[in-house]
Amino acid sequence: MTTARAVIDLDVPGDVISRHLYGHFAEHLGRCIYDGFWVGEDSAIPNVRGIRSDVVEALRALGIPNLRWPGGCFADDYHWRDGIGPREQRPQMVNSHWGDIVENNHFGTHEFMDLCDLLGADAYVNGNVGSGTVREMSEWVEYLTRDGDSPMARLRRENGRDEPWRVPFWGIGNEAWGCGGNMTPEQYAAEARRYGTYCRNHGGNELYRIAAGASDDDVKWTRTLMESLGCLTCGQQPAPVFQGISFHYYTHAGPGIASEPATAFTTEQYYGTMRKALDVERVIRRHEAVMDSYDPDRRIGLVLDEWGTWWNVEPGTNPGFLFQQNTVRDALVASVHFDAFHRHAGRLKMANIAQTLNVLQAMILTDDSGAMVLTPTYHVFEMNRGHHDATALAAHVLDAPAADDGVPAVSMSASLSPSGDTALLSLSNLSIDEPLEVRVDLRGRAATVTRARVLTGTDATAHNSAAAPDAVAPAVLETALEAGALSVTLPPHSFATVELALA
Ligand code: AHR
Repeated sequence: MTTARAVIDLDVPGDVISRHLYGHFAEHLGRCIYDGFWVGEDSAIPNVRGIRSDVVEALRALGIPNLRWPGGCFADDYHWRDGIGPREQRPQMVNSHWGDIVENNHFGTHEFMDLCDLLGADAYVNGNVGSGTVREMSEWVEYLTRDGDSPMARLRRENGRDEPWRVPFWGIGNEAWGCGGNMTPEQYAAEARRYGTYCRNHGGNELYRIAAGASDDDVKWTRTLMESLGCLTCGQQPAPVFQGISFHYYTHAGPGIASEPATAFTTEQYYGTMRKALDVERVIRRHEAVMDSYDPDRRIGLVLDEWGTWWNVEPGTNPGFLFQQNTVRDALVASVHFDAFHRHAGRLKMANIAQTLNVLQAMILTDDSGAMVLTPTYHVFEMNRGHHDATALAAHVLDAPAADDGVPAVSMSASLSPSGDTALLSLSNLSIDEPLEVRVDLRGRAATVTRARVLTGTDATAHNSAAAPDAVAPAVLETALEAGALSVTLPPHSFATVELALA
C-alpha cells in the first residue's frame, strides 16, 4: 500500500471559506424545475404550495446557502413578467435551448422566492441581457426588492406579496460569449456597465452584481471586464458597477476522450476526468492573477457559477434534458473542486454546482413515482458542510504518490470552524484501484477525533438508484491519532472527512 504524508498547522488560519462556495443552480432545463422542485399544488407527492417537500428537506440538511435561477442559457430567453400573476393566465414560451419544449411559466418569480424561503437559501437571480432590455431588468429588481410605493412594488402587491424580498445576488446575463448574445468581450463589458447601473439598491437591499464571465480559462474576457471597471486602486473611486465576475468550468473525460453515460467509463476515462477536475485550480489561478493585477485589495470577487460533470445523457432520455446518473467518480470530482475552492477562498467568493436536481451533476434524482435518490455528490456536500464560513488551514502534502500521470493519489484540504474549537479535514484517494494510507502531522494544537466518515462504492461506477438508494453512502472510517500523528487508510476511489476537537 502506498503512503502519503501531510502537515497541517492548526494554529495558522488563512482566508474565510464562504458558505456560498457550496451554492447551487436550478435552471428551467429538463426536469430540474418541473417534475423536480415543482410538482404543483395538486400533486400526490407531498408538497408545500407546489414545491416538493422531501427535496426541500434534503437540501436544508446541506445548509444550501444560495440558489441561482432561472438559467443558464434560459436566463437570456426569460421575460420575468410572463411568470407572475394567476398561473393559468401566464403566457407560454418556447424553451429553445433545452428540448425545444413549451414552457408554461407556472414556476416564476413568486414561486422561486417561496422556494428560497423554504430552503433558507439566498436568492441569486440571473437577469436577461441577451434578449431583454435594461428597463426590464431594472423593473425586475424593483419588483422584487422595493418597499414603499412604486409602480413595481404595487404590481407585486397586486400579485399577493406585500413585503419586498431580500435578493443579495444578481447576475447580469449569462455566457454572453455564446448563448447569452454571442458578444465580444468589449461589447459585453459595455453592456455589463450599462445594465449594472440600472440594477439599483432599493431600501436596505444591497445587490452583489455578477458580470457574466469567461468559459474555462479565457482570461481575455476577465481582463476586459476588469479593465472596464476603471482604476480600482486610485484613491476615491465610485463603487464598481458590478462586484463579481463569473466563469464556467465543466468536467468531462478529458481532451479527445469520449464522454460516455455517467456509469460506463474505462480507467482511462476515469483518470482523464480526474485530470480535468484537478485542472480547475490552474484555471482559478489564471483568473486570479488577472484580477490581482487590477485589484490587489480583492474588491471584486471571482464567482464560478456553473461547474460540475457533463456526461452523455442516460440512454432513452431526452438529449435536451441533460439527465445523467452520478457515481463515485462524480463525488471525487466534487471533492477535488472543493479542495481547490478552499485554497482560493480569498478571491473565489461563490460557486454553484450545475445543477441541483435531475440535470448534469445533480445532488438529487427524482422520478414521478415519488422516489427521491441522494447521489454520491450529495454526500460530499453534506460531509463537507463543516467548511461553510470556516477558515482555511493550509494542508501541505509532503510525499504525494501518483495515482496516474498528472493525478496525485491524494487531494486534501482543511479548515478551522468559526468558533475555533473544531477542525475538519477532507481527504480523497483518487487511485481507482489502490488503497492509500495518509499520515497527517497535526501541528500547533492538541486534537482528538470526534467523527470520521468515508464515502466509496464497490467500484468507481457505483451509484445510487431507487432500487439501491444507499449503495454509496457515508460509513464510519477507522482512524489512529497519537501525539499529533493522524493516520487513516482510504479505500480506492474514496472520499473521507475527519472531524477534530481542538484543545
Ligand atoms: O448548465 C447547463 C448550461 O451550461 C447552462 O444553461 C449554460 O450556461 C451552460 O452552457
